[in-house]
Amino acid sequence: MSTGPSQAAARRRDRRVYLRGHPLLFALLAATRGRPVRRFGRTLLVHDAAAYREALTRLPLDRTAAGTTGGAARAAGAAGVLFDQEGGAHRSERRGLVVGLGAAGVEELRAVWRPLLVRRLAPLAQGGEVDLVDLARELSGSVVCALLGSQAEPRAVAEAAAAAAAASVRSHLPGAHGPRAESAAVRTAERLRLLLTPAPRLCPHLGPSPTPGCPASGSASGSASGSGCGSGSESDCPSPGPDSGCGPGLGDQSALRAMLAVAAVNTTVAALPRAVAWCADAGLWQDAADARLRPVLAGELLRVTAASPLLPRVAAADGAVAGCPVRGGDRLLLVARHAAEAHRRDPDAHRPAGPDAAQLVFGAGPHACPGARLARAQLVDVLEELAPYRPVVTRARVDRRAALPGWRSLTVRAGA
Ligand code: HEM
Repeated sequence: MSTGPSQAAARRRDRRVYLRGHPLLFALLAATRGRPVRRFGRTLLVHDAAAYREALTRLPLDRTAAGTTGGAARAAGAAGVLFDQEGGAHRSERRGLVVGLGAAGVEELRAVWRPLLVRRLAPLAQGGEVDLVDLARELSGSVVCALLGSQAEPRAVAEAAAAAAAASVRSHLPGAHGPRAESAAVRTAERLRLLLTPAPRLCPHLGPSPTPGCPASGSASGSASGSGCGSGSESDCPSPGPDSGCGPGLGDQSALRAMLAVAAVNTTVAALPRAVAWCADAGLWQDAADARLRPVLAGELLRVTAASPLLPRVAAADGAVAGCPVRGGDRLLLVARHAAEAHRRDPDAHRPAGPDAAQLVFGAGPHACPGARLARAQLVDVLEELAPYRPVVTRARVDRRAALPGWRSLTVRAGA
């Protein structure tokens, strides 16, 4: 029996990314979500929104423990990459990035992805098909390169970031595959770092002389005007900006640049195709075509697809979550998908879950995702470009090796 678009059809397709890639974990999380917090030995599964927020904002967390995001970064040879940091060091590292990803920074980056979207979606007008995963790779790679001032090839960056994340996850799975998995994680992370390291460039004004004298580097605030001023040593560059080779306030921190690429690429490649598939399968293109509803719909689609559905953390000291005692060293699996009610509340641009719930898929507290504004803006623009075609999904294949649940390819064509 053929069925028309419906939320149930959208949910059915989207569940495949969990069931094919991580069936046992998905079953365990579904079976335990009846209570806000469930303890299994030294591991707590945290499902409820208030408990999730409490764990991220009130409980002291060990940011470098094995099996956490920060710990995985350190095991892959990177330190000082936000996820593994605390307090003042974390705040100062994050400051420049937050500026680069603020309203003005995102507006500048739109100039990178808007033409790319128009070009990549053009085949739809001729009755052709577009693979949205491939598009999301190119888009996220291009945005990362622009953000970091890298001349690397965007698809190569996206592929290297995907490989680094997948290797890191594999090396930390229970029953992991020993030293080979760990060395693969180190190797892939190193490859990404090298790819993003800018080649030495000459200052167009003064040649190889030190940058402080460069007339184009006068802005103390870090001009993004793209003077091309760079001394060949990132740490020397006084003018971090998209064209400087230094990125927004990232100085010479190649590990931090690579971590940013991993965080941006993997979430974008997981989120965009899943969100579009849901929109198509549930028949939400009318809302996507409405300029007033579109941003709300984008927030709702990011909420129900919860691209980073599970945050593994470790308690640094004794405390409590939702009244459940926690001991230092306890492992916490924070289920963003459940906290944001993705499992039981369909996306609805007319009656959205509200900004608090939608925000939870980006974490909470001092480490909350600095890329949330960028992710929302990208999806809003993707929906706007796609809406006139009312696309339908023609083929979808799950990526079982990816770090985050998502599609390996997801093809759409214009609907009737
Ligand atoms: C749909 C897209 C995205 C989702 C769902 C997402 C989700 C998350 C989550 C859950 C965290 C952890 C927050 C916490 O521990 O409280 C995080 C952290 C982070 N995200 Fe995102 N993210 C997305 C896109 C991006 C993008 C596009 C970028 C960069 C351009 C980015 C950069 C980061 C960084 C650097 C951190 C670490 C922040 C810190 O520890 O201070 N994310 N993200």
